[in-house]
Amino acid sequence: MSMMATILEVRGLTVELPTTSGWIRPVNDVSFTLNEGETLGIVGESGSGKTMLSLALMGLEPHGARHSGEAWLASKSGKQNILASSADELRAIRGRDIAMIFQEPMTALNPVLRVGEQVAEAIRVHEPAAGEKEIQHRVLQSLERAALPDPQRRARQYPHQLSGGLRQRVMIAMALAAGPRILIADEPTTALDVTVQKQILELLAKLRRELQLSLLFITHDLGVVAQVADRVAVMYAGRVVEHGPVMEVLRAPSHPYTAGLLRAAPRLVREKLIPIPGSVPSLTALPPGCSFAPRCAVHIPDCDSAMPQLRAVNTNHKARCILVP
Ligand SMILES: Nc1ncnc2c1ncn2[C@@H]1O[C@H](COP(=O)(O)OP(=O)(O)O)[C@@H](O)[C@H]1O
Ligand code: SF4
Ligand SMILES: [Mg+2]
Repeated sequence: MSMMATILEVRGLTVELPTTSGWIRPVNDVSFTLNEGETLGIVGESGSGKTMLSLALMGLEPHGARHSGEAWLASKSGKQNILASSADELRAIRGRDIAMIFQEPMTALNPVLRVGEQVAEAIRVHEPAAGEKEIQHRVLQSLERAALPDPQRRARQYPHQLSGGLRQRVMIAMALAAGPRILIADEPTTALDVTVQKQILELLAKLRRELQLSLLFITHDLGVVAQVADRVAVMYAGRVVEHGPVMEVLRAPSHPYTAGLLRAAPRLVREKLIPIPGSVPSLTALPPGCSFAPRCAVHIPDCDSAMPQLRAVNTNHKARCILVP
């Protein structure tokens, strides 16, 4: 194994949100490391906490949220715990060290600003001293890097004048404009049709190589994860239930939930698709032991006595299931 420097180290991250039925934990004791130039896939069904995890790492949790744990970001200026950073420090980190793209670029783009102006703003925030000519040059460079066709003309358009695929390219240009080392991609291709999806995945792979980006790639699609990730973390009801090298986890899953996801994955399974019965439990009514127990075909009474710990399948591969020896 090559020695890669860790660029982000998350330790015991928990995010809690107030609801009418009490505090819920959309992200529950999540730990992982992201190495330089590496892609870590985060998979899980809708509602498993993937977006909340990303927002916490960006310092963009919803109003009223509280968190605990640590998220150490390594940058040129040293190590910094994102989760203990002030609002000003977070503004400095966002875009410059760590950036995020979303499933629906329209939620992140300003509908009444020309897209070139939005990319310019992303640069200006971090380089207030840069001249207008320099900024405009960097805007075009960013749009070209995201392979936006006819960037001069496109820069003068508004988001609604662009297709979904082109909007995602603008979003990528904007996210990378200030030169972050880490990109969080939250289901960046889920809203796109298959052809455009493929183009965006290829673009991200190219940018990752060229810019030596570290990618946190979030998706509910195991086919996409197999394609883009080096390692994968599987989330269920806010917790990581399995993590390890992507090919090993997909070929020999150790958690029944991962195995279930695989049997239900259209692009990975040649036999009949078998959906996982039931649905993700409500965070206000979690089962007493293993959160997956109500849906688990190999469940035994012991599963209900306590939340299983992550157990080592081998040194690089762990699963949160009492059946792991
Ligand atoms: N602002 C909010 N207030 C209360 N609950 C929320 C809020 N945002 C998300 N949730 C809940 O947190 C859980 C995780 O959501 P999310 O992170 O969006 O999951 P995913 O991205 O994996 O689909 C879900 O149960 C969701 O209903
Ligand atoms: S701990 Fe039990 S219920 Fe949970 S995944 Fe393992 S076997 Fe299934
Ligand atoms: Mg989400």
